Amino acid sequence: MSELEQLRDTARARIAAAENADALEALRVEYLGKQGSVSALLKTLGKMTPEQRQEEGPKIQSLRAAVADAIAERKTALDNAALEQQLASETMDLSLPAPQSPRGSVHPVSQVMDELAEIFADMGFAVATGPEIEDDWHNFTALNMPESHPARAMHDTFYFPDESADGGKMLLRTHTSPVQVRTMKAQGAPVRIIAPGRVYRSDSDATHTPMFHQIEGLVIDKNIHLGHLKWTLETFLKAFFERDDIVLRLRPSYFPFTEPSVEVDVGFAIENGRRVLGGSGDAPGHAWMELLGSGMVNARVLEMSGLDPDEYQGFAFGVGVDRLAMLKYGMDDLRAFFDGDHRWLDHYGFASFDQPTLSAGVGATA
Ligand code: DAH
Repeated sequence: MSELEQLRDTARARIAAAENADALEALRVEYLGKQGSVSALLKTLGKMTPEQRQEEGPKIQSLRAAVADAIAERKTALDNAALEQQLASETMDLSLPAPQSPRGSVHPVSQVMDELAEIFADMGFAVATGPEIEDDWHNFTALNMPESHPARAMHDTFYFPDESADGGKMLLRTHTSPVQVRTMKAQGAPVRIIAPGRVYRSDSDATHTPMFHQIEGLVIDKNIHLGHLKWTLETFLKAFFERDDIVLRLRPSYFPFTEPSVEVDVGFAIENGRRVLGGSGDAPGHAWMELLGSGMVNARVLEMSGLDPDEYQGFAFGVGVDRLAMLKYGMDDLRAFFDGDHRWLDHYGFASFDQPTLSAGVGATA
């Protein structure tokens, strides 16, 4: 074997055995670098005679090419091995949730509103909305509370300094009842809607916040009576609290926009310091709790909303959504609903996939 062939084989063997990129680079310098042994051989060509050069040149060139090829081949092998190792060490389960990133949750008020929409949709109710910045006429006058009506004083209204285009006062709606008027005016009769939303009153303590949530119900048709109201409320509350033993008591009351008006109480017992709805309030260990206001829509409200009270009747009800959430999910301070404290939200919030459905039970598990 010639000297060059020996050199080539040794170089190939050493290159193939190079353990890493640094070792390989050292070998490249050793053979092909400016001071390298193969480079030195190439330099000898200049001092040869043309005949010698013709014979030795191709041999030395092929030695150089063989070493360069071996280095390139080893480099590819080392690169691939490094990539394999990196991929192996960086595998991740794409189906796992990000462990440290903050996870949002659905606020109990939103969850309860979704539950209510689901329950009432099953009874044929559509969801209606109205503006939170309301005018005096829709919030009060059309609901049979003309100026100087004493019921207005009970609403602790936030008024705006500016007047509406027709000279009326503008305010933050104090209840969802103006949506009754807006819906009847916009679509006529029959009507079957719920109207969930924010309402505002200048009031603040453990059970009152300046902003809170109500849901209004309105059914207008021919021959509607209080029996329909009672059935609707019973069906709704049984579905919402997911118990069949919900017992209601209708008590005569007064609201300007209903006649007759009834206040609806629900029976409950105290279990582990919590109010648990169910059973008659007259049963031993039970009591009644006032839950919502309702009644037959006042004929004057129907008239002001553009309907003929001799042709159409209906019932309405209004209930606090926050209150429903507290009763169902056990919170005891309303103010915490609006603090945005993530510990509270982590505890009481719902997973976004927890869509309430009647088939799965509207009471999602947080
Ligand atoms: N709007 C009343 C309130 O905020 C609640 C209410 C009572 C609504 C009786 C009704 C109703 O629709 O019929 O206090």
